[in-house]
Amino acid sequence: MKNTPIDKHIIDETINEFQIKDFATATIREVKAIAAKAEQQSGIEFIKMEMGVPGLLPSAIGVKAEIESLENGIASIYPDINGLPELKNEASRFVKAFINVDINAEGCVPVTGSMQGTFASFLTCSQCDPQKDTILFIDPGFPVQKQQLVVMGAKHESFDVYNYRGDKLKQKLESYLEKGNISAIIYSNPNNPSWICLNDDELKIIGELATKYDVIVLEDLAYFAMDFRKDLSKPFTEPYQSSVAHYTDNYILLISGSKAFSYAGQRIGVSCISNKLYHRSYPGFTQRYGGGTFGTVFIHRVLYALSSGTSHSAQFAMAAMLRAANDGKYNFIEDVKVYGNRAHKLKEIFLRHGFHLVYDKDMDNPLADGFYFTIGYKGMTSGELAKELMYYGVSAISLVTTGSEQQGLRACTSFIQDHQYEQLDERMKIFAENNPKS
Ligand SMILES: Cc1ncc(COP(=O)(O)O)c(C=O)c1O
Repeated sequence: MKNTPIDKHIIDETINEFQIKDFATATIREVKAIAAKAEQQSGIEFIKMEMGVPGLLPSAIGVKAEIESLENGIASIYPDINGLPELKNEASRFVKAFINVDINAEGCVPVTGSMQGTFASFLTCSQCDPQKDTILFIDPGFPVQKQQLVVMGAKHESFDVYNYRGDKLKQKLESYLEKGNISAIIYSNPNNPSWICLNDDELKIIGELATKYDVIVLEDLAYFAMDFRKDLSKPFTEPYQSSVAHYTDNYILLISGSKAFSYAGQRIGVSCISNKLYHRSYPGFTQRYGGGTFGTVFIHRVLYALSSGTSHSAQFAMAAMLRAANDGKYNFIEDVKVYGNRAHKLKEIFLRHGFHLVYDKDMDNPLADGFYFTIGYKGMTSGELAKELMYYGVSAISLVTTGSEQQGLRACTSFIQDHQYEQLDERMKIFAENNPKS
């Protein structure tokens, strides 16, 4: 047995100190804190793959527009609660240019990041019909969204899509929807953490069932157009970002500035509500507010109560970034492709040292290389693998926290630096020697 790159005692003591009984359930912040402490004590650099934070510079177009708007005195004025008209128009053009769907500017609503978009959507969807009090997650998923439901005291159900790809999705989804308690379905595409991309057949199943059971689909496009297998970078030209919007009228598309434009710090996104949903009234709204449509309740009741709109200058930034993308002057996808290149190299190293990809295929196609990927090691549970890798100075989160039923970890490519591939290779070589597979 070779010595591990990091002294095991340092990791074990830090985990004890944090009183984490099962490392499989450690949160991203806990893993980050343990890695930081072990790094400091050992003096050995960690290869950090736990956080999903953009590792790139923010879009210069956004920064420039934001500074200009601030210099023009925008900071003193409350933003329009409906959203900055320029941003609403550009968002409407953006969904046409990159998804090929028509959503009126009215329904494109700025939010302080998709986090607020989902919070407001969960609330509004839960208020439509008192019978429908539960949100359904197509997992694996982004853990904070379940936390949002815990915060608001709302119910959720979920299933791991791993065994339900393609046609199998229909029966599985229907088994939940036919009970009549589901108000909305949520998933991300590309998916955090697995980077699977639901294809058009699967989105059609979701859309058609949403119409049949009158359920709202929350399509989380936090990693917009980052399925790098296709060139989705050309506005108003095929291929487009796949979307459920082609298969139902009951949807909200959650578009975020955070990853596609590396603009996470300014907390900006746009929630795009379908034209039909925007104008629909529901008995629950009449009961609670004395009236209103989905769109007006979302904006004038829910968002107004949450934050009275979205940071004014960030809206100028987002408007400028979307405008430049729509006009074909700014290829935002080119800027973020580096994540895919990193994933490609990292996956190769892990696979060479005996790891496997947990979520490995979109039906018959290998997964795209992107922001995240998932790895497992034969015979090890998620918790065991996450902890063991810490001894080798590699930090990643267990899939358990994402609603996945598979054993393995989520690895994020965003913080990887060029010199770390060699480091990872050396460390995983020792890992494989120390953990021979029978
Ligand atoms: C799937 C998913 N949705 C939403 C978000 C949050 O987006 P925002 O920064 O716009 O709030 C993230 C961020 O990691 C994410 O992974």
